[in-house]
Amino acid sequence: MKKNAAASSALSTEIAGIKFQNPVMTASGTFGYGMEFGGYTDLNRLGAVVVKGLSLKPRAGNPGPRIVETPGGMLNAIGLQNVGVEVFLKEKLPLLKGLKCRVIANIFGETIEDYAELAKRLDNAEGLCAVEINISCPNVKKGGIVFGTDPIEAARVVHAVRRSTGLPVITKLSPNVTDIKVLVRAVEDAGTDAVSLINTLTGMAVDVERRRPVLAMSTGGLSGPAIRPVAVRMCWEAAKAARTPIIGMGGIVTASDALEFIIAGASAVQVGTASFIDPDAAVKVAAGIADYVKRHKTTVRELIGSLKTG
Ligand SMILES: Cc1cc2nc3c(=O)[nH]c(=O)nc-3n(C[C@H](O)[C@H](O)[C@H](O)COP(=O)(O)O)c2cc1C
Repeated sequence: MKKNAAASSALSTEIAGIKFQNPVMTASGTFGYGMEFGGYTDLNRLGAVVVKGLSLKPRAGNPGPRIVETPGGMLNAIGLQNVGVEVFLKEKLPLLKGLKCRVIANIFGETIEDYAELAKRLDNAEGLCAVEINISCPNVKKGGIVFGTDPIEAARVVHAVRRSTGLPVITKLSPNVTDIKVLVRAVEDAGTDAVSLINTLTGMAVDVERRRPVLAMSTGGLSGPAIRPVAVRMCWEAAKAARTPIIGMGGIVTASDALEFIIAGASAVQVGTASFIDPDAAVKVAAGIADYVKRHKTTVRELIGSLKTG
C-alpha cells in the first residue's frame, strides 16, 4: 500500500493547482471524447483525457480526402468536426465520470465571443478539471486571420475565456510563428494558467499524377514523429520564457520521446497521432515513464526542466 502511494507520487505532476496522477494526457482530436478508446486501453492509467475540440454548434468538418500519411507522420484537415458543446455535456462527459484520470475540454471558436460563451457553458461542468483553448483557428470577424499567430488576438481570446470561467485555462499554441516566446508572454499576461504546445505544423502534399493537392482543402496540419524535434525545441524555448507550466506534445510515441519534453521543461505531455497506430500508446508511455523514474531513482517533478546545456 505504502509502496504504491510512493510510486504514484513519484509520477505525479501539478498544473495550475491540479494534481495529475502521471504526466501523460491524450492530445485533442486524436482520442475522440475518451470512451471510444475505453475498450482498447485503460483510461484509469492516464493523467488526463483531452477531448476533441468543441464548438458552440455541432460541425461536420471538411470534405474528404482529409487525412494523408506522410513520412513519419500525417497531414490532416478534419476541419474540427465535433458534436458541439451541448451534446458533449449531456452525452459524452457523463460517461467519463468515476475514472481516475482527469478530463480537459478543448474549445475553439470563430470569434472571441464564441470562445467566451463556450467557456461559460463549461464553467460548472461536473468532472472537468480545465479548459484548453485551441487558438489555431481563423477569426471570421477579422477576415480569417488566425488567432494563434497574432499575439494581440491570442491575448484577447485568453482574456475573454479567463473572465468567463473559474476553471484553470490552458492555452494551446501554434508552431506556425516566428518567435514562440512572444506568444507565451502574450497569453500569460492575458491570464492563462498554463501553455500547451505544439499544435500541427501547416503542410501540403501534391498528387503528381493528377497535379492536384492530395487534401480537398489543399493544406493540412502535419503531426507525428516527423515534427518531434521541432516540438521539443519549441517547448524548450517556451519553458525558458514561461512563468506558467508547459504541456509538451508533437510526435510522442514512446516514453523516451515524452521524457525529452519533460527534461526540456514540460510539466506534462500529450500523446496524439501515436494513438492512431496503437490505441494503448499513451498508457504505454506512462508505464515507460514509471520505469524510467524507478531506474533513475528520481521523480517526474525532479525531471521537469532538468536539461543540462553548455
Ligand atoms: C486528426 C487530428 C485532429 C486534431 N484535432 C485537434 C483539435 O480538435 N484541437 C486541437 O487543439 N488540436 C487538434 N489536433 C492537434 C493535436 O492535438 C496535436 O497538437 C498535434 O497532432 C501534435 O501532436 P502529435 O504529433 O502527437 O499528434 C489534431 C491532430 C490530429 C492529427
